[in-house]
Amino acid sequence: MLCLKVPTDAAWAAEAVLRVDAVLRDHAHCELKAASNALSLAARHPDDVEIVHALADLAREETEHFQRVLSVMAARGLALGPPSVDAYAAHLRRAAHDLGPPPGGTPLVDRLLVAALIEARSCERFKLLAIETSGDPDKRELYALWSELLASEAGHYRTFVDLALRAAGPGRSRVPGRLDRLAQAEGEIVWSLARDRQASRATIHG
Ligand SMILES: [Fe+2]
Ligand SMILES: [Fe+2]
Repeated sequence: MLCLKVPTDAAWAAEAVLRVDAVLRDHAHCELKAASNALSLAARHPDDVEIVHALADLAREETEHFQRVLSVMAARGLALGPPSVDAYAAHLRRAAHDLGPPPGGTPLVDRLLVAALIEARSCERFKLLAIETSGDPDKRELYALWSELLASEAGHYRTFVDLALRAAGPGRSRVPGRLDRLAQAEGEIVWSLARDRQASRATIHG
């Protein structure tokens, strides 16, 4: 799916649907972080009007997702609870740093590409969750949630890649290659986290 190099382990979705409360809690925090990351990127790049507006729109949508997940959780009697450790995102940021100077020489390009990959992996896993819950009358609400998020996060993936191309300026021709190398690193991170069991199967990333 999208730019991903390796698929999620087949056992992930089967286990995730059995631990749906934990998945919802984890994912609510992912939406919260996505909204705050978009706003923080906008604040750090105030001179590019197009990027600031695109990131503000994105932050609004992620906040809506956060509220949507919270409402599904409330119906199940779940509180938000504390966030889990996000080893996946930390490894991904480090992998981008290890690739050397980003296209256009601006760290913003890597931040946008890391965000694009996070969206792509979310999207892939929402699709797996949608397939697992499809056709089950008791899971209609969850199916609707995963399907809505799947479509929206696919759009965010494209937005982040487009913004990275824009942010790279004259270095934009290097962006597809950078994304490809980061996607390779992302696949290795996903597999290594799964192998080392640092990642729970109740998380959307890692
Ligand atoms: Fe989202
Ligand atoms: Fe998103």
